[in-house]
Amino acid sequence: MLTLSSQNLLIKSSRSVLREVLNHALREEEGAFPSSPARRLCASLIFRRTCTERCRTSSPAHYITTPIFYVNASPHIGHVYSAVIADCLHRYKILQGFNSKFATGTDEHGLKIQQAAAVAVKDPLTFCTEVSNRFSHVFRRCDISYTDFVRTTEDRHRQAVEKFWTVLVDNGFIYRGSYEGWYSMPDESFLTETQVVDSTDPLGRPIKISTESGHKVEWMKEENYLFRLSDFRTKLQHWLKSNPQVIQPEKFYHIVLQWLESDLPDLSVSRQKSRLQWGIPVPGDCEQTVYVWLDALVNYLTVVGYPEQYSHWWSVVHHVVGKDILKFHAIYWPAFLLAAQLPLPQAIHVHSHWTVQGKKMSKSLGNVVDPLETSLKFTVDGLRYFLLRQGVPDTDCDYDDDKVVKLCNSELADVLGGLLNRCTAPSLNPEQIYPPFCNTSFPKGSEELTGRAMLEDYKMVKAVSRLPTLVKENFENLHVYKALEAISGCVRMTNGFIQRHAPWKLNCRNIEDKLWHDTILHVSMECLRIFGILLQPAVPGLADKILSRLGVGPGERSWDHALDFLSRYEGRGCPYERRALGPNTGVLFNRLERKKVQGITQKPGK
Ligand code: MSP
Repeated sequence: MLTLSSQNLLIKSSRSVLREVLNHALREEEGAFPSSPARRLCASLIFRRTCTERCRTSSPAHYITTPIFYVNASPHIGHVYSAVIADCLHRYKILQGFNSKFATGTDEHGLKIQQAAAVAVKDPLTFCTEVSNRFSHVFRRCDISYTDFVRTTEDRHRQAVEKFWTVLVDNGFIYRGSYEGWYSMPDESFLTETQVVDSTDPLGRPIKISTESGHKVEWMKEENYLFRLSDFRTKLQHWLKSNPQVIQPEKFYHIVLQWLESDLPDLSVSRQKSRLQWGIPVPGDCEQTVYVWLDALVNYLTVVGYPEQYSHWWSVVHHVVGKDILKFHAIYWPAFLLAAQLPLPQAIHVHSHWTVQGKKMSKSLGNVVDPLETSLKFTVDGLRYFLLRQGVPDTDCDYDDDKVVKLCNSELADVLGGLLNRCTAPSLNPEQIYPPFCNTSFPKGSEELTGRAMLEDYKMVKAVSRLPTLVKENFENLHVYKALEAISGCVRMTNGFIQRHAPWKLNCRNIEDKLWHDTILHVSMECLRIFGILLQPAVPGLADKILSRLGVGPGERSWDHALDFLSRYEGRGCPYERRALGPNTGVLFNRLERKKVQGITQKPGK
């Protein structure tokens, strides 16, 4: 709800005031509803405005994608994890001054979607639209700031796939043939003899399953089109060997190289229409439907306007993918791109999976963690923080409500929230300003400790001044957990600094004590300002709260602003000194109560 003064400001439609208006509205909203939808909308508008402003300048480009999500099931936290990682990199790139494009969307064709729609007694498009909307809703709710949402049922996508197919045909990489072999419908994947093993179904009947996913496979024999994948083994090996960083983490790079040790059979890239109707017809042959993975992978090109002007973005594409779809992104996709004479991705960032009590999330096990419910229980930033802080790309991680509560309470509520509260509480900061720094109390690099600062304090200043470089490295490798771990370590150090010097015990009527008191707060706020800037990609809502409370304006939140730390200590002026604090919006992060969480978690009747 915007008040009259916000509305009056809104009447001034000039772009230059838009940001101010939104900030104003934000501040007003903040007081009453710390995380109201209007507040989130304003924050997101400010963020989008920043993106648009950047687009107008000649900033370097960056393009990040998530996989597009199957619509045969509702979004779960694993899907949100893929999206949050990509969102974090996108936001980080914007802070770095990049013009960043961030695409996500839904994968809507294929047999399993066709069957899921039939089970739901809906026509496939209606069914897809419903589930696709659920994904976009969940993503917006989780502050996933995508710039494009693509659906494979869109017309622009069909056109891109048709063109891509035609180029592959024209370049001589698609031929008519017949395919005979194993097919896993849940994975929409063709498998070789070595990729399947004997098993039994729930009724004890013998079946074959995929060694990788455990899904049932079926023998398939049909006339269709094949892609000359076998032509690309050496080229792919060469690409990987000359770009050892292209697949991250390194573990997955080696896995792909190992796959390439064996022969690559040609790949069936269509299905008979009689078996699969829900898909894009093969150009010039309406009896065949394009293979869902070829269809799906082209989404990355659709988003950037292929086949028209796409090269600006295409040359800087980075994919985020889960480990289960590595083969499609690190072998099939680069081979298709080579065949179409298009540049290969700059990087493929792979992540592992979230399990629940060590088990894969699945509807049948009833252990699927709903991101909407979870974000309501723990807040969006709580959920994002947990996923990014605990999620390790190399290994699977186990999700557990208790872990979320413990982590958020300790790192967000107690340590980070406590620090902000200490610096800004009227009892310690009655003037409600960014207090002045005194060089005599905290002299630069004083080995002899001539001021009042102690050795640990110098260590803390050093650690925080190095933090942006460390965080940058880890954000760029998508080791977000390491970045957050480093930030959390510095937050603890800063809390220790305040605790050590207990400014609340100083007598501010004594001039020296007053100078030292203000210096302690100034240094702590400078640390908080850096934490706020660096946390923006991971927990945008919390970071905004910190920076707004410190009175740091939207134009003062870029990565470069984090490089200018404690400038008064360095002998330069500080723009924040003596500035009035932003409005007090209350506690940064409310402690989560296990009892309350359980209450909400419990299903009725339990
Ligand atoms: N539609 C294909 C991707 C096509 S991209 C051209 C697909 N969809 S999916 O919905 O099954 O998976 C989408 C993403 O979610 C994948 O990156 C996958 O690894 C990820 N996750 C699915 N379950 C997951 C967990 N339990 N944990 C973490 N990520 C998970 O594959």
